[in-house]
Amino acid sequence: MNRTLTSPVLDDQRRADLALAQRPLEDARGLPPWAYNDPAFYAAEEKYVLRREWLSVGRIDDVPESGDFFTVSLLGEPLIIARGDDGEIRALSAVCRHRAMVVASGRGRTERFVCPYHAWTYDTTGRLTAAPMMNGSSAFDKKRCALPQLRTEIWQGFIFVNFDPEAEPLAPRLKELDEILAPYRLAELESGAPPLDYEQHFNWKLLAPDNWENYHVLGVHAKSLLATGMFTPNTEYLAKPNGAFTAWMNPFKEGNPPPVTLKEFPGLPPELKRGWVGVHVYPCHLFLASPEDSTYYRVLPQSVDNFQLEVRFSVLPELVDDPAFKDTLANRRAMLDFVHVQEDAPALEATARGLRSSLFEQGCLSPEERPLWEFYNYLVPKVLEGLDNER
Ligand code: FES
Ligand SMILES: [Fe+2]
Repeated sequence: MNRTLTSPVLDDQRRADLALAQRPLEDARGLPPWAYNDPAFYAAEEKYVLRREWLSVGRIDDVPESGDFFTVSLLGEPLIIARGDDGEIRALSAVCRHRAMVVASGRGRTERFVCPYHAWTYDTTGRLTAAPMMNGSSAFDKKRCALPQLRTEIWQGFIFVNFDPEAEPLAPRLKELDEILAPYRLAELESGAPPLDYEQHFNWKLLAPDNWENYHVLGVHAKSLLATGMFTPNTEYLAKPNGAFTAWMNPFKEGNPPPVTLKEFPGLPPELKRGWVGVHVYPCHLFLASPEDSTYYRVLPQSVDNFQLEVRFSVLPELVDDPAFKDTLANRRAMLDFVHVQEDAPALEATARGLRSSLFEQGCLSPEERPLWEFYNYLVPKVLEGLDNER
């Protein structure tokens, strides 16, 4: 039976529900509906997972020069990602140290961030450089009014941030993934166009990991990706369950690979020419690599039923200048937009409605849904451990 308790976060029944998702895959069930609906469970996920893990916010090619910046909202926190005058990429709080006005929005290039409220001014490293008419305040100390910074780490050209100053670095746990992905030269890729942005009004896990399997091409994408042979429901895993990432090969339909419109990654081994490599770097970073490009899905959770999604198509830099690239980019963006807006998002919105039904119980998982099961076995122990240590 479905329960809609919001407190306590975990009673015995809820622990039993979560344990169903942790059984061996052939006997496992999905997460219980309340794990998608309950603000208290989301608060525990935020505290014990999302604020302790590395979260992807963008690409280094978003900020190629000193003074380049973009802004994001992550876990409800307004942030500025800026390359400072010293060339370093930083994640700064966008909240003014005076009276909390958000000092920047959008993206661009600047020499300073001037708060629109009373004109306090910060340099591109976050240091407060001017605060008019504050001489009469004995509490004011300019040096103590820099914008707070989060830790950042660059992995394969993606900018990750972490709210936890004690967090272990990201790269060491992705070494095996680096080897798998080396032929795609991810660190060098460029987009050549702004990302597609979507605001989604359902729980973040419905996309990552729940929509990140190939099984659903049989239904959601039957008339598009499945019909063209671009995707099949078959999954070949490239790494054992490891608590850090999932990676797999999804072969094109046999004898029917999609035509190469740009140029394959030079030196791509034959086994990677057979299809797409799908990756989920836990908890919120997803991407697909084809023989000629890569598309990433940046999931930025904001609350139990809201997240922002950025979808971006990237290729090797030399291809951005190729005359064929403009058409390919336009076609690929249109395809990504169609597949998300017309197919995946409506399915996920309908699933979110279904998860509020009192008649739904945790469903069984197909072996093709191993990516979900691997992720649940990463997420649930972290949340349980955090809550148990509170008691
Ligand atoms: S709130 Fe920013 S200067 Fe006052
Ligand atoms: Fe999909």
